[in-house]
Amino acid sequence: DANREAFRPFYHNTPVYGWMNDPNGMFYKDGEYHLYYQYNPYGSMWGNMNWGHSSSKDLISWQHHPVAIQPNGLGAVFSGSSVVDKDNTAGFGKDAIIAIYTSAGASQIQSLAYSLDNGMTFHVYENNPIIAADKECRDPNMFWHEKSGKWILVLAAALEKEMWIYSSPDLKNWTKESSFGHGYGAQEGVWECPDLMELPVRGTDRTKWVLICNINPGGPFGGSAAQYFVGDFDGKTFTCDTKPEVTKWMDYGKDHYAAVSWSNTPEKRHTVIAWMSNWQYANNVPTRQFRSANTLPRDIELYEGSDGELYLAATPAPEVNALRTGKALKYGAFSAGTKKVSRKLPVENSGICEINLELAPRSADKVYITLSNDKDEQTVMTYDLRNSTFSMDRTASGLTDFNKDFPAITVAPCPAEAKQRLRLFIDRCSIEAFEGDGRFAMTNLVFPQHPYTTISIAVDKGRCKVNDLTVNLLKVNN
Ligand code: FRU
Repeated sequence: DANREAFRPFYHNTPVYGWMNDPNGMFYKDGEYHLYYQYNPYGSMWGNMNWGHSSSKDLISWQHHPVAIQPNGLGAVFSGSSVVDKDNTAGFGKDAIIAIYTSAGASQIQSLAYSLDNGMTFHVYENNPIIAADKECRDPNMFWHEKSGKWILVLAAALEKEMWIYSSPDLKNWTKESSFGHGYGAQEGVWECPDLMELPVRGTDRTKWVLICNINPGGPFGGSAAQYFVGDFDGKTFTCDTKPEVTKWMDYGKDHYAAVSWSNTPEKRHTVIAWMSNWQYANNVPTRQFRSANTLPRDIELYEGSDGELYLAATPAPEVNALRTGKALKYGAFSAGTKKVSRKLPVENSGICEINLELAPRSADKVYITLSNDKDEQTVMTYDLRNSTFSMDRTASGLTDFNKDFPAITVAPCPAEAKQRLRLFIDRCSIEAFEGDGRFAMTNLVFPQHPYTTISIAVDKGRCKVNDLTVNLLKVNN
């Protein structure tokens, strides 16, 4: 479509028109993944918060639906979560969808709405609010805790930098059980959008609890970002394994915020999705009819790092593989030296593709992977093998001057191994980089004025073997 806006992603969820921020209230039921989001239907900047609604059978092609929850007597409809009430604990009906969100008016209070048509339309409960705390609290996130036979809800006490944990037998009456925070982790910004879940530890039969805590500002490269804590949860209290000063990040880019998971998923799968922007410049990015996309859906689990600590691994949901057209261009194996080795990206790709790389850096200390176009715009990714880091430099990536905080170099710790595998997803205005086993993820927006057409590899010294360089063309979906 020649008239398609140049920066509108093809395989990431975006609103057809208007502004989007946090993903909200996601649940799975009867073969469909429902995704709600903070939505302004009247313009492409933040304001007039509603719950917009998309759904998908495969997590990659999204169908757009009418607004699901509109501002009602108590204020704007801020972030929240949904569950499927299988046992009719709330009394609205078996399998009713129960959403709890923040009503933002004069203060921030928590409201309930229920749906009897699988999340298409919601009825606002007549006895709202169901939680009215005396502090600025928002973004309720709930789940069924099997061991205690209760619903658990985590609420962000934004300015306190605490997560408050509540329990309930019926989703309407909530009792505060504990609070977590008190100097733990990154503290610079407000705490928002929590999620608490039990995750498997890769390669073991153990599980641990993970508390996701989105913060703004105070991210590793400025602005908003998603941190997490690993520990235990006994039905009342979350206890963190590490010392308060330890901070762990879900993603090492600048554009991954408000990450939360789907509820009621098959086989208890843990799939998260985030808002692919940053509060520093989200309202200024150079799109017009819409603003913001979601990240790719990612499956998360824990793994033990070389320091013995537990970290989150994030890999693109396997459904993402179905985006491949079957046309893959194989450019490996070759050896790269200090002079760039360049390969043309297929023209029919026009800014959308998946790139898989396997490198054996050998005598090189640094390996540079550059995506560039005919306007001398480029994004440079660097493996620094001495310091075990992977970085992405978007300072010359395309349009960058719409906001002073946009140009940036983001850096992730990278496992010190002789072979490095990397998966890159490019979709018009975004690059998502995943370490082969998901041991780091890095999500950054880029606004090249023409799509990147070339990938080049070079080293600082010695040579690097490129065992695999495969470019997959992807289907145009949304
Ligand atoms: C996070 C956030 C939430 C709030 C919502 C409002 O990005 O600030 O805390 O509920 O956005 O749109």
